[in-house]
Amino acid sequence: MVEPSVYEAMGQPVVGPLDPYFFDVADRVRAMLRAVFGTRNQVTVVVPGTGSSGMETAVANFVEPGSKLAVFANGYFADRLSEMGRRQDATVVRLEKPWGEVFHYGEAAEFLQREKPDVVAFVHAETSTGALQDPRVITRAAHNVDALVIADTVTSLGALAVNVDDAGIDVAYSCTQKGLSCPPGLAPLTASPRAMERLAARKTPIRHWYLDLKMLVDYFDGRKYHHTVSTPLYYALHEGLRLIAGEGLEKRFERHRASHLSLVAGLERMGLQMHVAAAHRIPNVNTPRVPAGVDDLKVRKYLVEKHRIDIAGGFGELSGKVFRIGLMGPLANRESVAMFLDAFQDALRA
Ligand SMILES: Cc1ncc(COP(=O)(O)O)c(C=O)c1O
Repeated sequence: MVEPSVYEAMGQPVVGPLDPYFFDVADRVRAMLRAVFGTRNQVTVVVPGTGSSGMETAVANFVEPGSKLAVFANGYFADRLSEMGRRQDATVVRLEKPWGEVFHYGEAAEFLQREKPDVVAFVHAETSTGALQDPRVITRAAHNVDALVIADTVTSLGALAVNVDDAGIDVAYSCTQKGLSCPPGLAPLTASPRAMERLAARKTPIRHWYLDLKMLVDYFDGRKYHHTVSTPLYYALHEGLRLIAGEGLEKRFERHRASHLSLVAGLERMGLQMHVAAAHRIPNVNTPRVPAGVDDLKVRKYLVEKHRIDIAGGFGELSGKVFRIGLMGPLANRESVAMFLDAFQDALRA
């Protein structure tokens, strides 16, 4: 759900990509993004496009043709990362787990010691399954073999702690339409000094002109024209981040956690079982299993038509097996949870 004041902010006058007012907004956006990412990285920028554009920027810049990319694969978006790596002509190696499970240190370390990749990629909050990966498990194992770590924080940023610097993540990207409660269209991305050194040492040019990170940095830091930014999307992002700063990160994360716990308690009271183990659940994407004999599509259709509530279904390995209930931004509160549980009960009985 987009915050009402975010819609209002988008009505400000559109200005050009080199307007001092735009750079003023962009600088403030970048400073607020550093706080939400939990980083001091100077290279914290906004890439045009949705979350996938952030993913493509991370892969296209840091995964060189001929290099080796190791992907921790336990869901749909890890598969997208793998495919992007292949399209950069990298050798992609994968450690696979069933959808909904997470990786532990021993297996991560063993895999990376064996493969010795140049770059490692994982999904922090895997939206397709509801599983939350502890980043330190991956970063510790990756840094032992001197690999860069790319983290997909598309679903986590703004809803739970990402802690890029403390977790040792080298490159993280996200979107605007999930934990930041804004419309889709921009991809925040941050890269560590270590990642930027690797980029500087790269032997081949970045294949995607539009997503060349050094050129994006020249635009945001050097004020050198790169592309015509959509200023309403920046006004929206600025307002979304301003609201987050006003609420306070800890308070916001706790609000998401508390809403998640009350949703899970309600679902379990109704007899549903969560797909992901309690210690590894994403607070803002909840995945109860579809009870035996229930048609998930029928339930979801009924929820939209009767209650105007849109939840998602499982896909891939989890098709027809789980519901995916988003609970984030202004909706992450006890009242929304109570309203949802009543509607969901009604839909399951219908
Ligand atoms: C974990 C994850 N990564 C990447 C993406 C792709 O983002 P977008 O659809 O904004 O391009 C999504 C979208 O839901 C996602 O959940």
